[in-house]
Amino acid sequence: MKFFVDTADVKDIRELNDAGLLDGVTTNPSLIMKAGRDIMDVTKEICSIVEGPVSAEVTAVEYSGMMREAEVLSKIADNICIKVPLTLDGLKACKALTSDGRMVNVTLCFSANQALLAAKAGATFISPFIGRLDDMGIDGMELIGEIRTIYDNYDFGTEILAASIRTVNHVKQAAMIGADVATVPPATLKALVKHPLTDKGLEAFLADWAKTGQKIG
Ligand code: G3P
Repeated sequence: MKFFVDTADVKDIRELNDAGLLDGVTTNPSLIMKAGRDIMDVTKEICSIVEGPVSAEVTAVEYSGMMREAEVLSKIADNICIKVPLTLDGLKACKALTSDGRMVNVTLCFSANQALLAAKAGATFISPFIGRLDDMGIDGMELIGEIRTIYDNYDFGTEILAASIRTVNHVKQAAMIGADVATVPPATLKALVKHPLTDKGLEAFLADWAKTGQKIG
């Protein structure tokens, strides 16, 4: 499973990338707002840190505006992946951009039928939002399973990018179901490494080591 980090915070991106954990980055207008920086500047910096796809989202809602913005965003770097919303205009933009060799992430997916349409439009990634469905009492993980089945039934190459991940269990479940990618907030990504038995075991090893009075090197 590939890991993308869902943030526009370059400090977190650098730290996680240095640990070899990142295959890409996803941003959205809310994350750009949170970072408090110019979209072009911050996206350019992110693209220079991470080799993999960096999703940058258009904000126009009609086709021609999306294409205009996609053109501007694409010039930032070769690893830009254009993010479009799951609307008819978004699908049309997806088709045009992927036919032109661009990577496209279709976002705000909440149903299996929407994911089917995105695959037909040639999407590179489909982003089903797990947490936002869970928030409504709908099992977001079930959607990942449905999309996996449909894509496998028809050999669609679109990668399932599990988004709106809120917990470490979401990551595990998405991996078990077979999502191709998980985009995870920095804190949740860092939490994956934690286990109380690891901390306890390390503490015991260090205590015994201190008793030997030895040093390595
Ligand atoms: O990048 C889109 C998605 O991951 C948003 O997550 O937590 O705002 O629902 P969230």
